Amino acid sequence: MHIHRYEKLWLGLSLLLIVGFIATITYGAVGAGVTMVDNGETLNPNDLGDHPKFGDPGVEQVGPNEYDVYVVAQQFVFRPGTTIAGQPPITVPANSTVNFYITSADVIHGFSVVGTNANTMAIPGEVAEVTVEVGGPQEYGIVCHEYCGQGHHNMEGLMQVVP
Ligand code: CUA
Repeated sequence: MHIHRYEKLWLGLSLLLIVGFIATITYGAVGAGVTMVDNGETLNPNDLGDHPKFGDPGVEQVGPNEYDVYVVAQQFVFRPGTTIAGQPPITVPANSTVNFYITSADVIHGFSVVGTNANTMAIPGEVAEVTVEVGGPQEYGIVCHEYCGQGHHNMEGLMQVVP
């Protein structure tokens, strides 16, 4: 009887340790300026049009100073972001928390908001998640840093932090 109770206790402690390790690793990655977090969601890259968020990706306010930004990377466009391809820029207000959720509709791409800690891969079937605290008004370039085909070197976008 008592053994069961101790086993539960140990199980609980083990779980706490695991959570602690993961938190340490995640925090360490943020501190190093490179964040690659996958929230574990899987989705069909061929069927993003029906997805509640990636079907119409963009900026969504989720708190007083917090925004979720859904981005689809595809050859050779970020939706939203790639203004030269007719996409709107990613526009968020100054001094806010911006949670990016990034996936790919075709091959592996990169997603780097230059000058911030947002630097991850966009993998078909997966959702990468990275949070950026933005300061004052500024424009940021977005680049694809994974070779994704002939148009790779021109795959870029724009984020505007506005007053
Ligand atoms: Cu997309 Cu390189």
